[in-house]
Amino acid sequence: MDADDIDTGEPGFFETGSDEKGFDMDRVTRWVRGFAVALALAAPGAGAQDGRGDVVYVPTPQIVVDEMLQMAKVGPKDYVIDLGSGDGRIVVTAAKQFGARGFGVDLDTHLNKLANERASKEGVADRARFIEQNLFETDLGSATVITSYLLPEMNLKLRPKLLSLKPGTRVVAHDYAMGDWDPDDERILIVPEKTVGDPGKSYVYLWVVPARVAGRWESQLPVGGRTVAYQFAFEQRYQVVQGSVRIDQREFRLPQIRLNGEEMNFPLNATIGGSLVSHRFRGWVKDDVIEGTVTIGEGAGQRVTPWRAKLTARGEARMSAVAPALAGAFR
Ligand SMILES: C[S@@+](CC[C@H](N)C(=O)[O-])C[C@H]1O[C@@H](n2cnc3c(N)ncnc32)[C@H](O)[C@@H]1O
Repeated sequence: MDADDIDTGEPGFFETGSDEKGFDMDRVTRWVRGFAVALALAAPGAGAQDGRGDVVYVPTPQIVVDEMLQMAKVGPKDYVIDLGSGDGRIVVTAAKQFGARGFGVDLDTHLNKLANERASKEGVADRARFIEQNLFETDLGSATVITSYLLPEMNLKLRPKLLSLKPGTRVVAHDYAMGDWDPDDERILIVPEKTVGDPGKSYVYLWVVPARVAGRWESQLPVGGRTVAYQFAFEQRYQVVQGSVRIDQREFRLPQIRLNGEEMNFPLNATIGGSLVSHRFRGWVKDDVIEGTVTIGEGAGQRVTPWRAKLTARGEARMSAVAPALAGAFR
């Protein structure tokens, strides 16, 4: 048995990884920070205005707004929705400095008025507007970027809705995390004027909504002068994918894959027809098809071939703390 062959007696990644049973210090740290911030945002009178709804109004410092929009790589093609938009600074900045369009929702009539006045004053009222609406009842379907500065429990309540958005949608949040959905990027900013939460510091988190790849997929690739069938099996927990591939009746474990929205990129070394063949797969998931390229071989014999995988059985992606019934079904 080759080193790459699957050891079927070994328990699966999603059942035993430190993600599940061990302490993930990054996640614990984020939780502790979130708790401190939650106390601050929940405190009445924490902001210049009271705000309305489930969290008081505390504006995000401008330097943090800029960082949030940069981390999300906001540009003219983007549609930004700020959930609980306060005085409108995030969407107005996205429109004025980054050329985006969008809207904000807030339950506070006065803050919405201020936000719409700000948009007019900054000359972006045609691209940034503010509506009196409950953020939990807002249609997010048009968003390419979601921004927020809310309490952790609001975030958890929103999470299923965020995860159902179009893959590739970026979610960027100030000072709070998303439970066990680990961020794709996080930064700490020194903000001397900030007095709430962790005084003098802001935490910014970015997530990219992952495509759903859990399940079985099939490809045909030309290797060694013949067409070879590759049968992939992927398990998924948020953006993290673990899988295997069956080639010529043998199974090979894949390294852990981190999805970037629709994009997946992973290497594979497999023994095919008695020779070790290296692969680099790069593809984009569109519903039940993955399309991209695979680089096969190394050195002078290396070649790039189109890669197309077709879904043959949909699995259940794990997008909460509770394991779906199908987790582990592909070993
Ligand atoms: C912490 S402030 C953030 C303001 C702005 N997003 C920023 O970062 O500068 C949160 C805002 O959410 C609003 N809010 C609270 N619960 C809401 C809800 N259920 N629907 C809409 N807005 C809500 C509050 O009125 C407040 O203005």
